[in-house]
Amino acid sequence: MRTEMQKSEQMIIFGGTGDLAKRKLLPALFMSHCDGNVNPEFSIVGVGRENLDDASYRTMIDKTVRQFLPADFDQKKWTTFLTLLFYKVINATEASDFTRLSTEKKTARVFYLATSPHLFIPICQNLALAGLNKPDSRVVLEKPLGHDLASARTINREVAQFFAEHQIFRIDHYLGKETVQNLMALRFGNVIFEPLWRAPYIRNVQITVAEEVGVGSRGEFYDGVGALRDMVQNHLLQLLCLVAMEPPTSMSPDALRDEKLRVLRALQPYTDETLSQMVIRGQYTNGIETATGQVAPAYLQEKGVPADSQIETYVAMQVAINSWRWAGVPFFLRTGKRLPTRTSEIVVNFTPVPHSMFSGNHSNQFNRLVIRLQPEETVHLHLMAKQPGEGMTLRPVSLNLDFHEAFTTRHADAYERLLLDVIAGRLTLFMRHDELEAAWQWIDPIQIAWRNQKIPPRTYAAGSWGPAAASAMVAKANAEWSEAL
Ligand code: BG6
Repeated sequence: MRTEMQKSEQMIIFGGTGDLAKRKLLPALFMSHCDGNVNPEFSIVGVGRENLDDASYRTMIDKTVRQFLPADFDQKKWTTFLTLLFYKVINATEASDFTRLSTEKKTARVFYLATSPHLFIPICQNLALAGLNKPDSRVVLEKPLGHDLASARTINREVAQFFAEHQIFRIDHYLGKETVQNLMALRFGNVIFEPLWRAPYIRNVQITVAEEVGVGSRGEFYDGVGALRDMVQNHLLQLLCLVAMEPPTSMSPDALRDEKLRVLRALQPYTDETLSQMVIRGQYTNGIETATGQVAPAYLQEKGVPADSQIETYVAMQVAINSWRWAGVPFFLRTGKRLPTRTSEIVVNFTPVPHSMFSGNHSNQFNRLVIRLQPEETVHLHLMAKQPGEGMTLRPVSLNLDFHEAFTTRHADAYERLLLDVIAGRLTLFMRHDELEAAWQWIDPIQIAWRNQKIPPRTYAAGSWGPAAASAMVAKANAEWSEAL
């Protein structure tokens, strides 16, 4: 797939020596280069404050990025790719430095802001002062997009002074995951789900993004953010929107984003009472890491984390959506670090049949649709079937779809897909300004309540499924987390 790239395209990465550039952006661009999806004249300029030149930048990238490439990567293509990299020393808040980005060539440019959000405004301002915000330029804003509603609004308002909304790409890499897009294909490309995709046929929906790793070397950054802002405000709410939204009329950016916005605006805010019962925050203590069997340190012992930190590494919440479709259907969301396994999945639990004519333990089981985003990309539909043999005893069986078996072509990483979309100017999988603000509007009161009421996180042992209160919360709604089913 060759994109609609113009001649002489360039991506300028602010934060060019940073973790995201090394782990995700450069490997993604390299894979697109290998597949012939980017113009041969494409170039990448890493921008940072470190005193490097093109040659030393290439050497540094060569050394640090290889570990993030597929084991069988093409060495010859990698060597060619390195020649497409350039480096500029720029202080983001120093307007005069930006003249170093001026170019004689007719170049359509993407500015990728993989920096802290407090630099978004000065960078856009300085790009404009240097005359670099051309009509065909695009700017990509990496999360976190602010830390609350007010800061997100300021970013939106200020960036809009220099770039039009169609030039602004607010990235949430979860939307670039193949299975996330397959969720839309499943819902809107098939007739069988839609009639049942509502109350009273759905009993509850569970969205889990579990990570086995701890905060690792990101302790200092993470402690200023926490799980609610790092994962729920963006990734989990985006998944929730795709599950809950009404069918959009097309895949055009606004058709999809209008529907997601309607979901965000229909989220029921919490009262002080419901907050304490329906939002559980946790922080890991030391415990046994599943993969290695070794003792994993507590969050408070991680590098860069203050010994008295009250930041949450886990959130579980029961969410209500105020609409006809979802009245009375709880959505259970949870995410955490140092859980037993790395898994992201959406589980749709249907209601049991209204009257069971069969006897036995499983007669009243319900259908379940499990969409697994990672590590495997699968869809399982759990149905009831008759157990072979005498009598009429039912057992749950599952129809399984494995995307890697069904489609043997290489599955692109989320960033790869999204970067190609940016280059081609496709906005559908990026967030609009009002969507971002609606998400913060719902999240803000939770953060404020935690702060004001000084609600400390509950503890959970590393390697466990989170605080016991999270299981009690779903039990109260007559449900169980999917791993217990
Ligand atoms: C990032 C968060 O947005 O998503 C990280 O900042 C988290 O804390 C990561 O680890 C998870 O992404 P993925 O694609 O590995 O599930």
